[in-house]
Amino acid sequence: MSPAPRSVDPALPIGVFDSGLGGLTVVKKLLEQLPHEDIIYLGDTARVPYGDKSRDTIIRYTREDVRFLMGFGVKAICIACNTADSMARLQMEAEFDVPIIGAVGPAARKAVKSTKSKRIGVIGTSATVRSGAYPAVIEKLDPTCRVIQQACPLLVPLVEAGRFHRGDVVVETVLHDYLLPLMEEEIDTIILGCTHYPLLYDIVADLLPEAALICSGFASVDFLRDKLAETGTLNPQKGTGSHRFFVTDAPERFAKHGSLFLQTPVLDVCEKVTLGGC
Ligand code: DGL
Repeated sequence: MSPAPRSVDPALPIGVFDSGLGGLTVVKKLLEQLPHEDIIYLGDTARVPYGDKSRDTIIRYTREDVRFLMGFGVKAICIACNTADSMARLQMEAEFDVPIIGAVGPAARKAVKSTKSKRIGVIGTSATVRSGAYPAVIEKLDPTCRVIQQACPLLVPLVEAGRFHRGDVVVETVLHDYLLPLMEEEIDTIILGCTHYPLLYDIVADLLPEAALICSGFASVDFLRDKLAETGTLNPQKGTGSHRFFVTDAPERFAKHGSLFLQTPVLDVCEKVTLGGC
């Protein structure tokens, strides 16, 4: 007999984490879609980027992130990081008794629905591409789909440095270089397989004007909303939820870009924490 489902207090917060700023693209979507939810955000800014680390290290960092959020009694955890999702989610599901929502599955499902030509591009960190998570899920959903992946290791450091605006010649040149092989493959759908990349949405759209752009983190928010609704665990409060932000380094830098991006002051609700002795 399977164990009885644990009863969950809908008023508990949702935990969200990423290696840095990227997860804020997911938070922004959460604020729009689930405004009554309380959110605890963790950005592991001392150790960003995760995407160039080994699997063991990504699992260790992810475990520390999840454990930190579990300390708030969260009712669900949103892995707002494709790298942690593709390398460590299954391990976390085995270790922690909490629903853990990733981005890869929901984004892959959206891409399969969107493509007509059956040629789907995926851009992500080196670790996400190396994991093969996107091709595995997409080819399972539709074996006629061809997935063309491109690792983009320079993009997360550029975004973290605030270089994500249209007209920034450095980031535009780097993106052009990364996207060229995908342009030649005539993909009609591209998954932005890293939660930092929605900050580069306009530049990607300029370079691939014919392609449908799927933001992986946004797909995970839709999935989380449906899951909370299905399980009767949407927060019943009428007002806007509370939001707390934790980072492992440089809260001022995080708050500066975060406030701009979320269009709400972040510094007052941003605290520095130490994880795993870093
Ligand atoms: N936002 C993370 C992702 O979705 C970036 C990972 C990194 O730190 O390299 O993959």
